Amino acid sequence: MHIEPFFVEQWMNAHETTATWNIAETCVHSLTLDELLQMSGDADGVLRRLRDTWLGYGDITGSPRLRAAIAELYGERITADHVLTANGAIGANFLALYALVEPGTTVVSVQPTYQQLFSVPESLGAEVRPLRLRAEDGYLPDPEELRALTDERTRLIVLNNPNNPTGALIDEPLLREIVEIARERGAWLFCDEVYRRLEHEPGTTAPSVADLYEKGVSSGSMSKSYSLAGLRTGWVAGPQEVIRRCLDVRDYTTISAGVLDDALAAEALEHVDAVLTRSLAIVRGNLALVDAWIAGEPRLHYVRPRAGTIALVRYDHDVSSVDFCQGLFDFNGAFVMPGAAFGEEHSFRMGYACARDVLDGGLAAVSAYLRTLEA
Ligand SMILES: Cc1ncc(COP(=O)(O)O)c(C=O)c1O
Repeated sequence: MHIEPFFVEQWMNAHETTATWNIAETCVHSLTLDELLQMSGDADGVLRRLRDTWLGYGDITGSPRLRAAIAELYGERITADHVLTANGAIGANFLALYALVEPGTTVVSVQPTYQQLFSVPESLGAEVRPLRLRAEDGYLPDPEELRALTDERTRLIVLNNPNNPTGALIDEPLLREIVEIARERGAWLFCDEVYRRLEHEPGTTAPSVADLYEKGVSSGSMSKSYSLAGLRTGWVAGPQEVIRRCLDVRDYTTISAGVLDDALAAEALEHVDAVLTRSLAIVRGNLALVDAWIAGEPRLHYVRPRAGTIALVRYDHDVSSVDFCQGLFDFNGAFVMPGAAFGEEHSFRMGYACARDVLDGGLAAVSAYLRTLEA
C-alpha cells in the first residue's frame, strides 16, 4: 500500500516548535486546563471528579456523557448512539474513510482541502476525482461539475465545510443540492466539519450533512472551534451502520480514547456556549486585523474567509510557495503554510485565531519580508 506523505503535517512538524511568529496554526488559541475549569463554573467539583476517575480503558465507544454532549451539536437524527469518539478528527476521518471507501470505486473530493481527505481514499484503492474549488467562485463547489464527476461507481463524495484552507462556507441551499446528487447516486456524503460553528456572520452556521441526509456522515473535534487540541478528541457522527463499520476498524487502531480527555471534552461541551463565545470573539476580532492588513498590502489578495480560523492569501511575486514560506521563516521566523500543500501555488495559508500579540507580530514580520522581495 502506498500513501502520499502528508505535506501540511510534515511542514508543521518541521517548523512549529522553532517559529518566532506562528501564524500557521489552525486551532483557536488553545485554552489552559485552568481556563477550562473556570469556564465550567465548578472547578473544585470537576477536579474532584477527575481525581476519582478510574484509569482503565473506560467506555470503548466513548463515554455516554461525552457522546450525548456531541449529539447535542446536531439535530434530532443524531443521538448518542450515532456518535463514536476518536483520536482527534484525524482519527475520526481515518475511521470513516476506511469504513466507507471500497477499492475500485470512485470518490469525488473537493480540492483544495485537508490532504487526508483524498490521500487516504487513494491509498485504499479508490479513484479520487477532484472537485476543484476556485477563487472566482468564492471557493464553492459547482453542483453541475460535481454531477459530471460522479458515475455509477461513485460510492462517496467528500466535503470539508467550512473549508481548510480557504475558510469558504457552503450554505444550506447548496448543501441540499449536493445531497440530492449524492442521493441520486446512492453515495455516502462525508463532510469534515472541524471548523463548524466558527462562522463569522452571526446566524450563518451551515447544517451538518449528518442532519441533512440519511447517508450523511460528519466528523468533528475539540481541536479547532473548541480550542482544546491537546485533548485529542474527535468524533464521527452518522448512521448506525457507519458507526458499526467504524467500530470494526477502531478495534484495530484505538481500543478506546483516553478517559481524562473524554471527561474534559464532555465538560467543555456541556459549557459549549462559553467556549464558543470566546472562540468567536477571537476569530472575528482577529479577522478584522487581517482584513486591514491585506488592504494595506497591494501585492496580497484573498477571498475573505466566511468561517473558521484560516485564510488562503495570494501574493504577486514570481516565487514558489515553498521558497516564499521558507524564505520568510529564515528571514524572521514568521511561519505560514505554503499553498503547495493544497496544490495552490503563489499563495500561503495563514491562521488568524492565535493570540493577538502573535498575530500582530506575525503580520508585521510578513510585511517586512515582502519589502525585501520588492527591493
Ligand atoms: C480539516 C481538518 N480536519 C482534521 C484535522 C485534524 O484535527 P484534529 O485531529 O486535531 O482534530 C485538521 C487539522 O488541521 C483539519 O484542518
